[in-house]
Amino acid sequence: MQIVRESIALRELIGQWRAAGERIALVPTMGALHAGHMALVEAAKADADRVIASIFVNPLQFGPNEDLALYPRTEEADATLLEGHGCDAVWLPAAGDLYPDGFATTVSVKGVSERWDGAARPGHFAGVATVVAKLLIAVQPDVALFGEKDFQQLAVIKRMVTDLGFPVAINGVPTVRDEDGLALSSRNAYLSADERRRALALPRALDEARAAIESGEHILVSTLLAVARAKLAAAGFASVDYFALVDVATLEPLDRASGAMRLIAAATIGKTRLIDNVRVEMATVSH
Ligand code: PAJ
Repeated sequence: MQIVRESIALRELIGQWRAAGERIALVPTMGALHAGHMALVEAAKADADRVIASIFVNPLQFGPNEDLALYPRTEEADATLLEGHGCDAVWLPAAGDLYPDGFATTVSVKGVSERWDGAARPGHFAGVATVVAKLLIAVQPDVALFGEKDFQQLAVIKRMVTDLGFPVAINGVPTVRDEDGLALSSRNAYLSADERRRALALPRALDEARAAIESGEHILVSTLLAVARAKLAAAGFASVDYFALVDVATLEPLDRASGAMRLIAAATIGKTRLIDNVRVEMATVSH
């Protein structure tokens, strides 16, 4: 596997692949890689001749009181994992390469990025959209892969790519979970053993709300969401930023089940903020 740092080296490598007529997939990450990231690499391999992952802990998407300095950095282990999964190259840009002195341009996506994590983390999605735009311009992949784990992020990136006309397909990959159901996340490393056990209430509450909605029982969605919040509080979550039923494309809240939906949630246990979401599928009524 090639390890690329300088943008000149990146251009050269991509140029070779292009000249050979190869289809290129990009997997953007912030490192501290786990099986969730590897699912993106596997999906990328299935859809392209060459797979390049990027690792960059993007300062632009962290708020002033967030975990930028603490964010786990495990470069060697990451490279080993990527190589083991047949990734062709990893790009590790330096901050100065992506954000030159005097950097003054941001990409901000209205609408879909405003609620939920956008409201809880001001500036976060502009930071994500800006860096992803830069990564797409530098690599010019045919396809880029993102996890459904960060469902709003995926929706924001799809909106940006459509609006700005990036010639790339954006593919979502289903969330990879631990055996007990907790979604894999680099931030799970912050959880104590006790918090890790209690954190399971999050995927459970999502799954129970999903089952209740799909059962078609006549329960108000607002009641279901309130019950879910109460379960999280009972399990020891200090706060619940949101627990909502939303439209998959616009992320606008729904007060009753209709169309393509997602249940999304963010809640804090100890000092760790966890996010998760599940698909909700209503059986189609046949006439
Ligand atoms: P990061 O948190 O490292 O995640 C990189 C990619 O892995 C994202 O697309 C994320 O959704 C996906 N991912 C993380 N955990 C997953 C899981 N359990 N199952 C499936 N996919 C999972 O998301 C970012 O980095 C950054 O915001 C980035 C897009 C790289 C921009 O800086």
